[in-house]
This record gives sequence, C-alpha cells and structure tokens, in this order.
Amino acid sequence: MSEFPGLQMARLPLNHGGGQIPALGFGTLIPDPAVTVTATRDALQAGFRHFDCAERYRNEREVGEALQAGLAAQGMERQDIFVTTKLWNSNHRPERVAPAFEASLDRLKLNYLDLYLIHTPFAFQPGDEQDPRDQNGNVLYDDGVTLLDTWRAMESLVDRGRCRAIGLSDITLNKLLPLYESARIKPAVVQVESHPYLPETELLEFCKKHGIVFLAFAPLGHGMRPGLLENPVISAIAVRIGITPAQALLAWAVQRGTALLTTPKTAARARENFEISPLPQDAFDEISRIQTRQRLNDVVNTGNPGFIPPKN
Ligand SMILES: NC(=O)c1ccc[n+]([C@@H]2O[C@H](COP(=O)([O-])OP(=O)(O)OC[C@H]3O[C@@H](n4cnc5c(N)ncnc54)[C@H](OP(=O)(O)O)[C@@H]3O)[C@@H](O)[C@H]2O)c1
Repeated sequence: MSEFPGLQMARLPLNHGGGQIPALGFGTLIPDPAVTVTATRDALQAGFRHFDCAERYRNEREVGEALQAGLAAQGMERQDIFVTTKLWNSNHRPERVAPAFEASLDRLKLNYLDLYLIHTPFAFQPGDEQDPRDQNGNVLYDDGVTLLDTWRAMESLVDRGRCRAIGLSDITLNKLLPLYESARIKPAVVQVESHPYLPETELLEFCKKHGIVFLAFAPLGHGMRPGLLENPVISAIAVRIGITPAQALLAWAVQRGTALLTTPKTAARARENFEISPLPQDAFDEISRIQTRQRLNDVVNTGNPGFIPPKN
C-alpha cells in the first residue's frame, strides 16, 4: 500500500480520477471552537494531511482559519492537503445541494473540495434548521426526496469540477447496493463507524471488490472508557511492542486496508496518533480475532449524530 516505511504516508486510490486519499485522517468533530483551531493546527504540524469536516459540526470557519494559517506557517499549498466536508440531512433536496456545498467551501476558505460526502442517508425536512423536530420532539424526516435524487446533484458537482470525489457516510450495505447500481459516478468513499468491536467485514469486502475506500470513524472506540483502549488484548500488544493502545488500534485499521479518522486534541496526542508503524502479523491477527461486538454511534439507524454513553 505504501512505498514509505511506517504507515503515516499510506494513501489509497480514489475512483473516477479522484487522486489519492491519505489513510490517516484528522476528524474535526470538536464542539469547542478554540480547541478546533488549536487541534487542527497541531494535527497539520504533526503530519496529518487529510482533514474531515462537516457543515453539521458547525466549525468549518474555525477549521478553515486553522488550515489557512497552518499552511502558510509551514510553507505548504492547498494541494498538499486533502479536505472533505459533508452535506447535512436538511439539505438533501437536489436544489439545496450546490448552495450547501458552496456555503461550506466559503466557510472553509477553499475553492474546491477533495471529497464531498452525504453525511447520512436520512433526509430531514429541508431548511436551515439542522435538527427539525415536531412538538413531541420527533425528528421531521423528508419523504419527498430519495437518496438517488441527492446523489445525482452530488454527481453534478463532480461534473462541474467543484469536487474531485463524492461518497456517503453512515450507510449500510443494504442501502449502498441499490445506490451503487444506479449511480453514474460510483461512490469513491464510504465513511462508517469501524473498530475491532465493529469490523463491518461484509461492507469492507464489498468496498475492496468495487474500488471504494472504506473510511473508518471511531477507530479508538471514540476514546470511551471502559472500551477499546482498555481492552486486554490491545493493552498486552501495546506493552509487548512498546507502543500505546491508540497506536495499536490505528495501525490495525490501516493494515486492514481502511482509511481512518481520529481526533487527537493536543499536540502530544496528534504526534502519538500520527506516528504509527506496522504491527507484526501475529499482533494484527490477535486484534482481528477479538470477539466483542458493539456499535457506539446510532447515527446509522436514525440520521441523528451522537455517541451512545457507555455503561459503567
Ligand atoms: N460520519 C459520521 O457520522 C461521524 C460520526 C462520528 C465521527 N466522525 C468523524 O470521525 C472523527 C473521529 O471520531 P472519533 O471521535 O470517534 O475519534 P477517535 O479518535 O476514535 O476518538 C476520539 C476520542 O479518543 C480520545 N483519544 C484520541 N487520541 C487518543 C490517544 N492517543 N490516547 C487515548 N485517547 C485518545 C480523545 O480523547 P480527548 O477528548 O481526551 O482528547 C477522544 O475522546 C470525527 O472527528 C469526525 O470527523 C464521523
């Protein structure tokens, strides 16, 4: 996969002439605006070149500022980094797609995107309210638009050279299959929760067979404790090899052929999460054999973002 030693420089090819995506991605789902800025700059400084954003994170402006300042400080150009953002559920109507895309670009201070994703396959009532609810607190879904309608509008963005690749997030294989069949431009990337407790093997195999990049979020189990970072198999491997549990989990993800998103919030953790090297085969296999199964984020079932609080 990589011609470089270590895994930091691993890149995966994107279909439809979309270039390559760095396997190690920095996720910007950070509620605090000031931390968004420092964490993004620290990630760039540590070596991350792939940045995952979303209009729903409500911090594209801060990410844009941090990237612009960070690129200038490091003497780098726009094309040295790979930037993704996502179309939110309330913008699925085809006529809302291009305006939502342009608004994201504007906030990010960019003039093209490397990758644009449909954030979830669930359409919410169209409008500027990101979380539309009825008086009982139930989400107002929109049954006047199909995922394929939205996808066609995404395809037009590629046709017009506004973004290099398009894909989907929080999608199941069942929903991906019909879209894949009907799509004129096939999805280049699928972003879903994945870690040793949720390997999503069937979806990964489908993606590998069809040249789709599988992009794993929550590779550290969203840092929840108790959780993956304290799993005894992971801890024992980390001690044996002399790495941290986080490095073991991130290396496992890249070695199984996925790209990943991680969200270190300090400079030290950014360096830790970037400085990963290949696991020996026996360690890789031990992690693959972990039997615990747990989904941490219910967004794939509802379109509502949010990690499920762990039971103590
Ligand atoms: N498509 C979607 O619906 C969706 C959903 C969720 C996330 N995402 C994307 O995926 C990205 C990553 O998500 P994630 O939050 O699950 O990432 P993650 O890296 O698995 O988990 C982040 C958590 O792990 C902790 N952490 C980070 N590095 C660590 C280390 N070296 N050692 C110990 N703990 C560490 C952080 O703790 P501290 O807070 O203490 O630093 C934070 O609580 C997001 O930013 C976003 O871009 C997408």
